[in-house]
Amino acid sequence: MRVCIVYESRRGSTEMVARAIEKALRDNGFDAQTWSVGQNPEVDDCDLVIIGTPIYYERPLPQVVRFIEEKSGLEGKRVAVFILAMAQKFGKLGKEYTERRYLRLMMEPIKGRVVSARAFDGWLFRENEATIVEAGAWAVEVARLCKGGE
Ligand SMILES: Cc1cc2nc3c(=O)[nH]c(=O)nc-3n(C[C@H](O)[C@H](O)[C@H](O)COP(=O)(O)O)c2cc1C
Repeated sequence: MRVCIVYESRRGSTEMVARAIEKALRDNGFDAQTWSVGQNPEVDDCDLVIIGTPIYYERPLPQVVRFIEEKSGLEGKRVAVFILAMAQKFGKLGKEYTERRYLRLMMEPIKGRVVSARAFDGWLFRENEATIVEAGAWAVEVARLCKGGE
């Protein structure tokens, strides 16, 4: 099973998480490769597309949304979405808000089957080790589920 990880990042944290996801998948025997949206990767032969963006000014990065739209909403694909944001750090309301608004904005243009969507704690300066570990474990779990359902 081939897993394609596609991301965009401004300050590097989403890129770091995308690369950690790739490593975790490879360590667990999956064929995984990472691209930035700017590289405009071909996703036709990907069995699972894991796509990630940070949230800036209440929105996913526009180039990520554009990528999804340009790839026909990833129609016919299994898709796992992740975002990096800060709002969920602000208690229960922040978490609900993040999940409802930010994840919805990311999922709206997707016409494929969203198998999982997760919001991780982003960071500004010091990398969040917990996010890196959690994201890797999440991706492996999602890939295993997809493989099991083949
Ligand atoms: C200028 C700026 C605006 C941001 N706006 C939001 C926001 O509206 N909501 C949120 O939850 N996080 C917000 N964040 C937090 C980022 O999503 C978080 O720092 C993320 O890890 C950045 O990802 P990157 O390093 O891949 O660019 C903002 C961060 C910056 C620097």
